[in-house]
Amino acid sequence: MHLSNPFRLALLLPLFELASSTPIIVHDGLKKEDIWVRKENTLNSTSRHDAHSSSSNSITNVHATNTTDSDDTNSTIVHQAAASSNLPINIVNKWNSNNIKVYISGLDDKGALVMLGKSGQWVYPTTSSSTPQPVPDSVAIPLGKPNSTLPLTLPGYLISGRIWIAVGGLQFFVVSTPNGPGLVQPSAANQNDPSAEVNYAFAELTWNSQLGIYADITAVDFVGLPLGIKLKDGNGTTQSIAGTPANAAQVLCDQLKAQKKKDGRGWDQLCVYNSAKKLIRVLSPSNLPAGGQNPFGTYFAKYVDDVWNHYSTNDLTINTQSSPGNVTCRTKGDKLQCAGDNRGYAKPNNRDIFGCNTGPFSIQQGDNAVHLAVVPRLCAAFNRATLLIPGGNVQPSLPPAKYYTADNQRPADSRPRNWYSQLVHQIETGGRGYAFSYDDVAPSDQEDQSGLVASADPKLFTVIVGTS
Ligand SMILES: *[C@@H]1O[C@H](CO)[C@@H](O)[C@H](O)[C@H]1NC(C)=O
Ligand SMILES: *[C@@H]1O[C@H](CO)[C@@H](O)[C@H](O)[C@H]1NC(C)=O
Ligand SMILES: *[C@@H]1O[C@H](CO)[C@@H](O)[C@H](O)[C@H]1NC(C)=O
Ligand SMILES: *[C@@H]1O[C@H](CO)[C@@H](O)[C@H](O)[C@H]1NC(C)=O
Ligand SMILES: *[C@@H]1O[C@H](CO)[C@@H](O)[C@H](O)[C@H]1NC(C)=O
Ligand SMILES: *[C@@H]1O[C@H](CO)[C@@H](O)[C@H](O)[C@H]1NC(C)=O
Repeated sequence: MHLSNPFRLALLLPLFELASSTPIIVHDGLKKEDIWVRKENTLNSTSRHDAHSSSSNSITNVHATNTTDSDDTNSTIVHQAAASSNLPINIVNKWNSNNIKVYISGLDDKGALVMLGKSGQWVYPTTSSSTPQPVPDSVAIPLGKPNSTLPLTLPGYLISGRIWIAVGGLQFFVVSTPNGPGLVQPSAANQNDPSAEVNYAFAELTWNSQLGIYADITAVDFVGLPLGIKLKDGNGTTQSIAGTPANAAQVLCDQLKAQKKKDGRGWDQLCVYNSAKKLIRVLSPSNLPAGGQNPFGTYFAKYVDDVWNHYSTNDLTINTQSSPGNVTCRTKGDKLQCAGDNRGYAKPNNRDIFGCNTGPFSIQQGDNAVHLAVVPRLCAAFNRATLLIPGGNVQPSLPPAKYYTADNQRPADSRPRNWYSQLVHQIETGGRGYAFSYDDVAPSDQEDQSGLVASADPKLFTVIVGTS
């Protein structure tokens, strides 16, 4: 049994009952949606950095070692004591490259944009330009040769943090925004991004005094360079998420091409090649460009119609897994209406379902607790095709073994679903790791699929590059 189930962590940290659905203010205006920043490639300060009030800790060490020891429990690497806000991080190179760079970005505990400098201190990239300027600071930290471990120490708390790992270098830009500097990060969805041809990946983490650490590896945006993570807790346990094997992008691309042959939809277009025609990554369907050609056509339309028709005469129960309890939904006219919800849901289209953040799934200011609980659960149900199957009238209620199974007996009739997410979970070691943005929706008694690790008392966070 894994130790990272967010519901169990909820016992320790009641504010974080379910990561996908808790826009609860945790401190100083920090909201859950500030913690996981996925959809935009900008990370904006939420407050300005004031050099005089900075309390950033100066006890840090950043140096590569050439040890082959990657065992957390008996590491020969000596970290600074993990006192206060310092967090030891090991990056282990299991990829066959001598040219890997590590970058760490996020917001500090005051909401100011930071990156980890090569010196081991936070640097505060800044500019007065409203046109993105290259980050001037020295922020590319070389990872050692294969089988070496790079020990780093975060010199302070980090919100919306990402640990970027790249074969070669990535380009980060800073831009002036109304709240202070914004970081323009590499965007896999943008073919013109200057880092588009670089093989890279990132792990996400948030680390603060109230919550401790929450971290994950993610395929929400794409599958590329494989990463695994480990989190060693002060209580002696270690949570591990192995991620995808080394050849995951190629396997996934081949399977998506096969799916395209079966259903004629544009799954093959998710494979992204560099100028040498080499596969570089596989995008999630939520990252297809908005507007223009729609390679999925009317893919979900009939399923959505069938669902809306079914719930005009049947109850859909959404288990909010929070104070509103179970709420009953019915279609009235064109909209699905849930008891106690401040507004209803129009029929979602392909883009709405794959991204879970547009159309009926976009969250607006003033949406109430019912609405904030229904959006992730309804969107997850469409991605996993768990509506209109036995047990599907209560969401979430079915175990992971029933996700993506609708009409598997009759492949020709199989329900539309997020094939990218289904295949990513099949490829992932242990089947865990976010493959769409609400992949942490799960019945309370079932293992979650997201591969979130968490600890209120972290001792060491490890990222393994190339997990095979
Ligand atoms: C690690 O090995 C590289 C050569 O592979 C060498 O240049 C470097 O000095 C070594 N670093 C340490 C800390 O021993
Ligand atoms: C691992 O660490 C423990 C505790 O420090 C020690 O007792 C043990 O001998 C170590 N094992 C190895 C193989 O170094
Ligand atoms: C890394 O370690 C593995 C397993 O011990 C070994 O098979 C591989 O050859 C090593 N790679 C390098 C570049 O030393
Ligand atoms: C960051 O600020 C820019 C400029 O004001 C804005 O366009 C962008 O949407 C912001 N990004 C986020 C994630 O808020
Ligand atoms: C909601 O319904 C589920 C299954 O029908 C049940 O297990 C759960 O206890 C209910 N929750 C509440 C708060 O009544
Ligand atoms: C250790 O901490 C982890 C993370 O907080 C928790 O999931 C686990 O249950 C704890 N284990 C023990 C034996 O206390």
